[in-house]
Amino acid sequence: MRRVNRSERVRVALTLNGRRLAAEAEPRMLLSDFLRQSLGATGTHVGCEHGICGACTVLIDGVAQRACLTLAVQAEGRDVRTVESLAAADGALNPLQAAFRNNHALQCGFCTPGILMSFTDLLARNPHPSEGEIREVLSGHLCRCTGYANIVAAIKEAANGTAGAAPNPSP
Ligand code: FES
Ligand code: FES
Repeated sequence: MRRVNRSERVRVALTLNGRRLAAEAEPRMLLSDFLRQSLGATGTHVGCEHGICGACTVLIDGVAQRACLTLAVQAEGRDVRTVESLAAADGALNPLQAAFRNNHALQCGFCTPGILMSFTDLLARNPHPSEGEIREVLSGHLCRCTGYANIVAAIKEAANGTAGAAPNPSP
């Protein structure tokens, strides 16, 4: 087996928010850094960088994943969606985002992109989650501002009028 030099750069090609993109990355580069630094998708936030806070959550082939626990090279050929995929091209918020606004479910907003992506995944699989199911998913995210009650209310509102809670279609 060929030994890989840790600093050797490799080409990583993926679909990001419906667009085919490619850039070079060191084999040890995190997907969160690749998205932000190489592809300019700075909506994905980085907090703890070790899988605790959930700020970096993105969808990989439709499944919510921690981008800080994923290597960029593991995203080769995959469909990656970040928070930038949620609003329409004209900036109109999707129903989940609108429900966060309606319920004051964010303050500084640092945790919000990751939470939105986790619940985009949940609502796609389970359009009418119970409060317990919402709280179980939310337990994978840390928010230092809101105390979570308004986030739960927002997700319930999105689930009650659930059409459009999934990401906007690919451009
Ligand atoms: S930055 Fe990935 S879980 Fe905190
Ligand atoms: S809104 Fe500030 S950390 Fe969640």
